[in-house]
Amino acid sequence: MALERTGYLDTATALANTAEPSDFSAFRALAASAADAFEVPEGYRAHVIAGYGDQFANEDGTLTYGFNNDYLAYFPLNGSQEGLLFINHEYPAPFFQHGVTNAANKTAAQVQLEQDSVGNSILHVKRDADGIWGVVSPSRYNRRITGNSPTLQFTGPLADNAAYPGIGETASGSLANCSGGITPWGTALSCEENYQDYPGLGWDQARTGTTDYVNGNGSTLTSPAKYGWVCEHDPYDPSFVGRKHTALGRFRHENTAFRAVADKPFVLYMGDDVNNGGVYKFVSDLRFRPGRREENLKILTSGKLYIAYWAPQSRRTFDAPGGNLTSPTGGTGYWREVTEAELVDTNARIAASVGSAEFQLHYATNRPEDVEVDEDGTVYIALTNNSTANDTHGSIRRLHEAGNDPTAVGQGAQFTWEDYAAGGPTGRPGTGEQGFSSPDNLTFDKAGNLWVVTDISSSVLNNPTNPNAYHRNNAVFMLPRSGPNAGVAFRFANMPLEAEATGPYFTPDEQTLFINVQHPGEETPNRGGVYGTVETYTSYWPKGNKTTGQNPSKPIPSLVAITKLPDVETDPDGDDTPPPSNVIPAPPTPPTPGNDGTPARLSFVSSGRQNLASLTGTGLDFKLRVDEPATLTVTLYGQLTTRKGRRGKPRQLARVTQRVNVSGEVTVRLRPSAALRVLLRRERAVPASLAVTATDAAGNKATRTKRLSFRRS
Ligand code: FEO
Ligand code: CA
Ligand code: CA
Repeated sequence: MALERTGYLDTATALANTAEPSDFSAFRALAASAADAFEVPEGYRAHVIAGYGDQFANEDGTLTYGFNNDYLAYFPLNGSQEGLLFINHEYPAPFFQHGVTNAANKTAAQVQLEQDSVGNSILHVKRDADGIWGVVSPSRYNRRITGNSPTLQFTGPLADNAAYPGIGETASGSLANCSGGITPWGTALSCEENYQDYPGLGWDQARTGTTDYVNGNGSTLTSPAKYGWVCEHDPYDPSFVGRKHTALGRFRHENTAFRAVADKPFVLYMGDDVNNGGVYKFVSDLRFRPGRREENLKILTSGKLYIAYWAPQSRRTFDAPGGNLTSPTGGTGYWREVTEAELVDTNARIAASVGSAEFQLHYATNRPEDVEVDEDGTVYIALTNNSTANDTHGSIRRLHEAGNDPTAVGQGAQFTWEDYAAGGPTGRPGTGEQGFSSPDNLTFDKAGNLWVVTDISSSVLNNPTNPNAYHRNNAVFMLPRSGPNAGVAFRFANMPLEAEATGPYFTPDEQTLFINVQHPGEETPNRGGVYGTVETYTSYWPKGNKTTGQNPSKPIPSLVAITKLPDVETDPDGDDTPPPSNVIPAPPTPPTPGNDGTPARLSFVSSGRQNLASLTGTGLDFKLRVDEPATLTVTLYGQLTTRKGRRGKPRQLARVTQRVNVSGEVTVRLRPSAALRVLLRRERAVPASLAVTATDAAGNKATRTKRLSFRRS
């Protein structure tokens, strides 16, 4: 049986298409939660790397991590142990940043604070000996792009073109950076999404000294012309001048996903994240030439944009919110060319060209957010939801290009499509199998599983009368795509209150999953929150937990790293850093009856002879000191060499339980079993760790760990 009732996946059968299951292939799925906590399954650990307001530095000075982190991508410096995170900061939160929510009352300094909190962060990060990720600072790579700096260069047909006033040659900074993508030539793409909201923030000429953020900026557009573009940056090169590519159109860009074939035009898929927005693809004029970076950097500057035409109809429609489906779940379509004149306000101008009824029937979809391309070329599109189509839960749609040719365009080349996975309650009884709602960002792991994060609007989350009440908080799901559990969404992580999960990204070795937690406590200003009185805030995450009343504090959008740690319970390098928990914030230890709160004090006196001959002979004798009577549990863990010659995961080599009736020095002997001694005799060196737990008469526990190294001498 592939699936136990607890939702534990059997990697051998459920993930039959994976030769080598990753750290994230098998987990015990989580139940839905309405708690103010970030939760991952048992055996996984999560911790915050950075949150809004955290400071880091480069050679020129101090930088501040921005608000509402969304997209992230990992650019390696040293494999999966050290790299650069390229991160988007989508929009500011005046209430939490300075307390003035009425734009008319903001000072110029408050507007500047908001401008400084959006854009992008480039963060140099590294894993330490404990396996914990941290920011490397100062580092020449650390960098910020903000809402008004540095200057970005426009490229493409609308750049510095008098026919399109308001755009010009350059733009100050970048804003509304939702999701994004990477390119095969090593750059990051950042998508400017809800640029139309920025004039409402009061970023006017009086406060900013420029008309860049006002509607039109000298044109007839009803939104700021310098924003709404796909921007390209090079995380590795601090001197790279970021670019805004007008050939990719100006709409509410969610993300990008490419399909690159050597010596063929480069194709980039994109979604317009708005109710009834379209799905687009760009086909470059230049050919993709692997290894020829200078040429490839020109690829996004010229080409043609196309919008998907869907038949028999483009939208999933329902007879009522959360009701019955009234539209087909598959069909055909083709790619219609977007003219140059339509690029500047893509959605509105195409609708005007084809007529709004035609647009609604064949181009409009249910908020296309993330678009991802599978290895076989299939395009997966997350259609989040669409209240105008009564689509409460959204879906994931698949598109197969005509002849599997990504450059296929026009009515002569018909693609096919089908709805792959529907959001909404599944009725399945297993824990964590109740179904996702409102899919947003997608990613694949190497085993072929599809990972989905959800974006139920914070205004309706946990509303008992809403059809998605069953879902509780937003979450992260894994969908196996083959085996007996194909298509079942298993809940992997829960977000804190009113937050959305964004930007899921695996390191190349798939031992770390990065997730951004966006807008925890977002409803605070709408639900009677008083600025500065943190007890009134609707989330205390990550420093506290509103649900349990633990540590009332301001909610902070934060970057989280998830890893699966080996079974060593504590601090592998013995430096007393508390290990991260599978819940953020870690719950306080509940007091036990009769517990006086003073566990025994433990210290290591000597760690014995750390050579393999004595370990496989008489065993390891080591001394420690304990200051009151206690029961000691001592476990020795070690990493043996795997059949492939790599260092294996820590496994238990020996365990002893010993009662100590008098305080003072104790000697403990650990001797591996005969079978393990045979294996150990084959090793040249074994990294190991010792974990000691002392339980006193009142039940108080104290734990110490120490790193050891056994060598052949
Ligand atoms: Fe910013 Fe499309 O979510
Ligand atoms: Ca999104
Ligand atoms: Ca979203």
